Amino acid sequence: MIAELLRKTPVVPLVQADEPQVALKTAMALKEGGLAVVEVVLRTDAALDCLETIATEAPEIVVGAGTVLSLRQAEEAKRRGARFIVSPGLNEEIVCFCQSNEMDVFPGVVTASEVQRAFNLELRTVKFFPAGLSGGAPMLKALSSVFREMQFMPTGGVSAGNLKEYLSLSSVIACGGSWLTPSKEIEAGNFEAVTQLAREAVEIARSAGG
Ligand code: 3PG
Repeated sequence: MIAELLRKTPVVPLVQADEPQVALKTAMALKEGGLAVVEVVLRTDAALDCLETIATEAPEIVVGAGTVLSLRQAEEAKRRGARFIVSPGLNEEIVCFCQSNEMDVFPGVVTASEVQRAFNLELRTVKFFPAGLSGGAPMLKALSSVFREMQFMPTGGVSAGNLKEYLSLSSVIACGGSWLTPSKEIEAGNFEAVTQLAREAVEIARSAGG
């Protein structure tokens, strides 16, 4: 289970790439900056190859699959080496598959009714997506005051500018986001910039008490 790892460094960068070697270099750059848990989003044709390459060539990195929309995708991601699954919404088939395979799963929720559905499925950690547009930290505070056992991973609109605000909430286990992997820098081969962004996030997490 990755909860322990996230407690140490509560930031999950998104990796989106068309080339497995680019995904690998991005993940290594993030690791170099102190972030060893990464989420490869299934939004490119090469995403599963990217995930598999990171899982096999950099086993010290904990790689999960994001934007998982179907059971078939979850099964394939697991087969290719995903250690956890993230979805934008709550798909019970995916949740049950992960639970029966003892795999961490973070389905996206926003409303109290969605959190309740997740709670009923025995989930205690969910993604809060899209965080910024759904009320941000104040909304999370309100949800956490009633769902006291629930832990959240806000994603969507998180940046270095608001990371501390989210991580200061005791119900936030980690924040996810793409601000750590800007496509402009990656396309230019500037992986040092990715490492710097990761370092900055680690520093912010430290200052938030994470
Ligand atoms: C996701 O897949 O979780 C979101 O696209 C992340 O949103 P961000 O790009 O605003 O970080």
